[in-house]
Amino acid sequence: MEIKQIGIVGAGQMGNGIAHVMALAGYDVLLNDISQDALNAAMALIDKNLERQVARGKITAEAQAKAIARIKTTQVLTELGPMDLIIEAATERESIKEQIFDALIPHLAAHTILTSNTSSISITRLASRTDRPEKFMGFHFMNPVPVMQLVELIRGIATDEPTYAACKQVVDNLGKTAASAEDFPAFIVNRILMPMINEAVYTLYEGVGNVQSIDSSMKLGANHPMGPLELADFIGLDTCLAIMNVLHDGLADTKYRPCPLLTKYVEAGWLGRKTQRGFYDYRGDVPVPTR
Ligand code: CAA
Repeated sequence: MEIKQIGIVGAGQMGNGIAHVMALAGYDVLLNDISQDALNAAMALIDKNLERQVARGKITAEAQAKAIARIKTTQVLTELGPMDLIIEAATERESIKEQIFDALIPHLAAHTILTSNTSSISITRLASRTDRPEKFMGFHFMNPVPVMQLVELIRGIATDEPTYAACKQVVDNLGKTAASAEDFPAFIVNRILMPMINEAVYTLYEGVGNVQSIDSSMKLGANHPMGPLELADFIGLDTCLAIMNVLHDGLADTKYRPCPLLTKYVEAGWLGRKTQRGFYDYRGDVPVPTR
């Protein structure tokens, strides 16, 4: 089946990036959030990020204007019902995702493919509570969405081939690369990335290095574009902790135990860039390490 209209649930960090790339690739986008302020902020950010691409000569001003015109917003979740493809990119809490799917299901068209941008929750379990496990799968973008080349596509146990093929075609049309992942905790990228970030926090916790030396070591010694602690702040420390807990619970192996220092930062509400404080303090002109 051909996908033309895409509904996106959640206008946060991931949702606005997904709307940006879909609209730029020519899809009609309906972006939903419970907050009108979040929708307004998302549209302003999409325009700013498109502008950045125009300034760097990546896209034309005409493409920017067309992309913006293709995105409509709504606070009414059920208006997404007739879309060909829905990507849920709401808060990474299973109960919230379940509520969204429950509310959507009575309004979905028969052909609608339902997907989640979850970074670690079981696709099979989410799918099992919907009316269409065969038309349900994981559609996982990386942050920042307009820049990162990869999209993980995760099949639940019941996902059928036409659903996978339709989603793969969308990724191809975005000019991005799909990685096919099986539905096990945290899939591929986060299964590998989060233990590395968690180990960086242990390295800090045990005093092997400070924030600066750990990040410099991985940037200059392993050619990572961001150090692991800087990246953790960028992703959100609450998200990092949630994913470590999914790995720990789902694989029942102590090697995935979250570092107590990561838990402490989250309990303090120091969640990284989004709260202006994490392993760095972002309240001034330049980020200052907090350890
Ligand atoms: N929208 C559009 N373009 C953007 C952008 C955005 N939001 N953010 C950055 N860019 C573009 C810039 O315009 C620039 O483009 P050109 O190369 O054409 O000049 C390019 O990206 C680089 O940007 P900057 O020069 O401003 O900054 P930088 O060189 O420091 O790179 C970065 C920024 C791309 C974020 C880089 O630091 C990086 O790759 N970091 C690692 C990101 C990463 O690992 N992401 C995955 C996180 S894990 C995840 O997402 C999974 C999960 O479930 C948690």
